[in-house]
Amino acid sequence: MDCIVRVNEELGGDFFYLGLEPLEPIADIRPGRFFMVRCSQSADPFLRRPMSVADYKKDGSGFGLVVQTVGWGTSLLSTLVPWDRIDVIGPFGTNFEVPDGARSLWAVAGGSGVAPFLGLIDHAEGDVDHTVFLGARTSELLIYADRLKERGACVITATEDGSSGEHGLVTEPLVKKLDSGEKPDVIFTCGPTPMMRAVARIAEAHGIKCSVSLENRMACGFGACVGCVTKKRGEENYITVCSRGPVFDSFEVEI
Ligand SMILES: Cc1cc2nc3c(=O)[nH]c(=O)nc-3n(C[C@H](O)[C@H](O)[C@H](O)COP(=O)(O)OP(=O)(O)OC[C@H]3O[C@@H](n4cnc5c(N)ncnc54)[C@H](O)[C@@H]3O)c2cc1C
Ligand code: FES
Repeated sequence: MDCIVRVNEELGGDFFYLGLEPLEPIADIRPGRFFMVRCSQSADPFLRRPMSVADYKKDGSGFGLVVQTVGWGTSLLSTLVPWDRIDVIGPFGTNFEVPDGARSLWAVAGGSGVAPFLGLIDHAEGDVDHTVFLGARTSELLIYADRLKERGACVITATEDGSSGEHGLVTEPLVKKLDSGEKPDVIFTCGPTPMMRAVARIAEAHGIKCSVSLENRMACGFGACVGCVTKKRGEENYITVCSRGPVFDSFEVEI
């Protein structure tokens, strides 16, 4: 599906936001699902790159991507300007699902891992309290803290150099809050694998349901190439992250 680039906004560090308008509305956009994005009009790079949905319009007439420039594909995306065209397919995969009856949801994000929580909080239904733990190396890389606060989330930040929020890893305020006796109904996490692994272990130790969003490298995005498999927890079987995930219950997969 061709999309028109409406916005390309620098966010600080290597991050930028692409606001896209598809030529026709796209159905079933939900937080945690992803698009396979073609990064150029030529065959280089040949493979599309997976990108999570960030914010989106409920009628599918617009959505955003929060992208970190890490290599060739993402640096091509960073050069897009308004009115350029970009080809995406999707959305694919599973989404973050708020359990029935949940009243308190904590999300733990690092880097571009904040993306799915923008849409999740924008479109939250019912009476759910959201707390977002945002972690980064330094304050410049803490993106979207103010926007999440504006949407009513309680935002707790941590930076490794102490330039903003708590000094240290984002899991430290998470543990502190749990130790103070607070306990959410569910924890969602998205970002670097070591962070998600730590969050999943903390959630499991406290008996809290936890969903993780895996970012394995992908070629097709829909279950055909078996390039993105991950090991099932406690089994010698592997599953495709693109079609069975990317959002899994933490007990389902090895992370
Ligand atoms: C389901 C899913 C959702 C994603 N959502 C986002 C998102 O919202 N925003 C975003 O910025 N990125 C996201 N990613 C990661 C993104 O797809 C990669 O960063 C991108 O493909 C890199 O392309 P490139 O050509 O710029 O880099 P390449 O030249 O392909 O690689 C450059 C460097 O990035 C590393 N890299 C490449 N792919 C990944 C990956 N999947 N995970 C970790 N490291 C990788 C490589 O090992 C290498 O060190 C997501 C990945 C998945 C699987
Ligand atoms: S990326 Fe091809 S099977 Fe998952």
